[in-house]
Amino acid sequence: MLRNYFDTRTKLLDEALKNYLNYDKEQPAQLYQAMKYSMFSGGKRLRPILFFATYEMLMQKDDIELIKPFLSVGCALEMVHSASLIHDDLPSLDNSNERRGLPSCHKKFNPAIAILAGDALLTKAFEMMTLVEDKELAVHLVSILCNAVSTRGMLGGQTVDVLSADKQVLQINVLKYVHSKKTGALLEAAVKCACACAFVDPSVTNTLSTYAMNLGLAYQIIDDILDDVGDFETLGKEPFEDVKNHKKTYPTILGLDKARKLADKLLEDSYKLVKNMKNNGVLVEFVTMIKDRLP
Ligand code: IPE
Ligand code: IPE
Ligand code: MG
Ligand code: MG
Ligand code: MG
Repeated sequence: MLRNYFDTRTKLLDEALKNYLNYDKEQPAQLYQAMKYSMFSGGKRLRPILFFATYEMLMQKDDIELIKPFLSVGCALEMVHSASLIHDDLPSLDNSNERRGLPSCHKKFNPAIAILAGDALLTKAFEMMTLVEDKELAVHLVSILCNAVSTRGMLGGQTVDVLSADKQVLQINVLKYVHSKKTGALLEAAVKCACACAFVDPSVTNTLSTYAMNLGLAYQIIDDILDDVGDFETLGKEPFEDVKNHKKTYPTILGLDKARKLADKLLEDSYKLVKNMKNNGVLVEFVTMIKDRLP
């Protein structure tokens, strides 16, 4: 049932992405090719699916028709995510040659095109938010996305991540800031957008935001663990990249065992926040799916 949920929503999202990006017709062709390459190279679509699932849950119905007016919001979330990964892989950030088992965008094209493709996708994401029919809601969605991407969100996290790389000692609370911002903020934005579209009570938004923030932090801790213990097959890129880049991570600061326990605890907290909500199947599945990434 849940596989079916992911497949049907992903199909709808991918059709919308193709439609909005219109990469076969738009110019400059090379820029669109790079955007297309990164958008359609096997991403799991976690952020848009989390948005759809939260919205459907809040509307008390698992019904694909409900999300059709908000496909552009799902597209926006995936475009920001894709842009963040293109830039994250660049030589001046993580210098990753592969992503999802394929050459990263700057390797397939070149760094200039990769920078521009990231910028173009990020800009397009905000345009996507403005397409929502209720324009007051659209402005609210833009502001949620701005917060998640800005210096207060993902870009703040990525900046401190890069600046912390060569530090001899890194406080765990700084690392928590980095992980919450670089990864948590966009997952939090996905549920906040759903709450905005469903016009729910602020207390519901707060609970679901904490759920998503915990998921994000756990997701990044597990990503760090996998970088230490995974292989090319699992990661879609070479392991030990964080060590190579002198990154301090949860496993390097706390040790593998404690890092694992912390991820478990965060996921357990996420679960507790949604376990009594009606129609929570997909949100609970997110917790399990992330836990199952741990080897
Ligand atoms: C990868 O995110 C980057 C991190 C936040 C750890 P995803 O694992 O969601 O990436 P794709 O889009 O599915 O490849
Ligand atoms: C990525 O963190 C976070 C963002 C792109 C915002 P990582 O640098 O650890 O992600 P991977 O390991 O390259 O996927
Ligand atoms: Mg990085
Ligand atoms: Mg990286
Ligand atoms: Mg990583």
